[in-house]
Amino acid sequence: MSSEEVRLQKVLSSAGIASRRAAEELITQGRVTVNGKAARLGQRVDAERDVVRVDGDRISTDVKKRYYALNKPEGVITTSKDPGGRTTVLDIVGTEERVVPVGRLDIATEGLILLTNDGELVHRLTHPSFKVDKTYIAEVSGLVTHETVRTLTGPGVRIEAGRPAKASKARVLQVSKSAGGRTVMELTLHEGRRHVVRRMLAEAGHPVLRLVRTGVGPISLGRLKPGDYRTLSTAEVTALFKTVGL
Ligand code: URA
Repeated sequence: MSSEEVRLQKVLSSAGIASRRAAEELITQGRVTVNGKAARLGQRVDAERDVVRVDGDRISTDVKKRYYALNKPEGVITTSKDPGGRTTVLDIVGTEERVVPVGRLDIATEGLILLTNDGELVHRLTHPSFKVDKTYIAEVSGLVTHETVRTLTGPGVRIEAGRPAKASKARVLQVSKSAGGRTVMELTLHEGRRHVVRRMLAEAGHPVLRLVRTGVGPISLGRLKPGDYRTLSTAEVTALFKTVGL
């Protein structure tokens, strides 16, 4: 038995799933599995390796894993270290654990960036084959027409050789006709090519004036203020696992 093994009831209660008593009930009702098999009362699990599910949803059992959501302000960079000494997202999330940002946001882009030390989750959230939705609010110059929205979500626009960049959803939220016109729009994309939103909107004739990411898969920026970060809840981590098939 490895020294990492702990009682399943304790794992469930420390993950915030249920009190110890309620955890026992979940187990006796057959709603908990360990590595695909019905869990037993009193069972011990390796919290780092075993896969525990409640009603089919995987829960994070590893107490060493950290999951954060940060609202990246403009001017902060997403790489782990900057030789030029600029502020990075890791300077803001001052944690002892070696977390890394999940994907990137441009220096000028604001909004939601996840950070974690869960390598498998990082891989799945950033690999294009998992098609994780990222949602952005873009303020652009000019008045965006319905036809442009249809182009962005239909054939897409060419930003380089190869496949065009497409949004899976796009809608206009606000238009202002003064001073040549401005439009605020919301776009959802699966892909993460560099500057993809800025390049596709520039190509469509609407250079981006401000870009904020408001969602990554099931996680929303919510009311987090620029420069603030928070720990993801157990339910949010479970939802992320579900999104990428963990
Ligand atoms: N698209 C962009 O243009 N910039 C980002 O930071 C993310 C997506």
